Amino acid sequence: MTDPGTHRGTDPAAAEKQAAAEAAVALVEDGMALGLGTGSTATLAIAALGKRVQAGLSVVAIPTSERSAAQARALGIPLTDFATRTRLDLTIDGADQIARGSLDLVKGLGGALLREKIVAQASDRLVIVADQSKLVDRLGGQVPVPVEVVPFGWQTTAERIARLGASVRPRRAPDGSLFQSDGGNLILDCTFDPIADPAGLDAALATTVGVIETGLFVGMAAVALVAGPDGVARLSR
Ligand code: A5P
Repeated sequence: MTDPGTHRGTDPAAAEKQAAAEAAVALVEDGMALGLGTGSTATLAIAALGKRVQAGLSVVAIPTSERSAAQARALGIPLTDFATRTRLDLTIDGADQIARGSLDLVKGLGGALLREKIVAQASDRLVIVADQSKLVDRLGGQVPVPVEVVPFGWQTTAERIARLGASVRPRRAPDGSLFQSDGGNLILDCTFDPIADPAGLDAALATTVGVIETGLFVGMAAVALVAGPDGVARLSR
């Protein structure tokens, strides 16, 4: 699990991430059902939420990864699941890129894109927390679009994705083996030139046989709380 304390020492954007995380957690109201994101900024939000729960706030939450679930459990945040309820009031999650204006996103560098998209889709409001380095005019370019694929035949799936104009690399774990998502799938990191039509690319990827889900989150974020040296900006579509 990512330790926010460790991050504070090594991450130059730690204070900004903290400010964005706290601004998002301030939106949480008593009785809400929440989605909990994944990544270093979401980790800070879960920590801030844990403090509010310990002070008496009553919420239930569905985490987007085993990592976030373990953190939430350790903090005493009550967890629920989609067997119990199918809608959530608010999800707080990070992002790898945020397009100015549209708030379309690239997500999944933390490997949790499938659960993140399911949770986001089930939420009345998706609030993104990030430092300002994540803001871009166009998605793609230097940041790859993670694409979750079934392990069977991933090499041929990768070839077909490459024909859409990507340079495709299978994600690897630190020991060099293929990285496995919480769902036991593989992730292909797909580098595209800056993306002119995220919705079109998302549709083309999603209809490629073998693809389970893409890290393009188009039209899903309601609000982005983006922190910079001058404070937290609230961006909405
Ligand atoms: C996780 O799969 C991603 O979608 C994260 O939300 C993303 O990597 C953001 O992480 P940071 O807050 O650590 O940048």
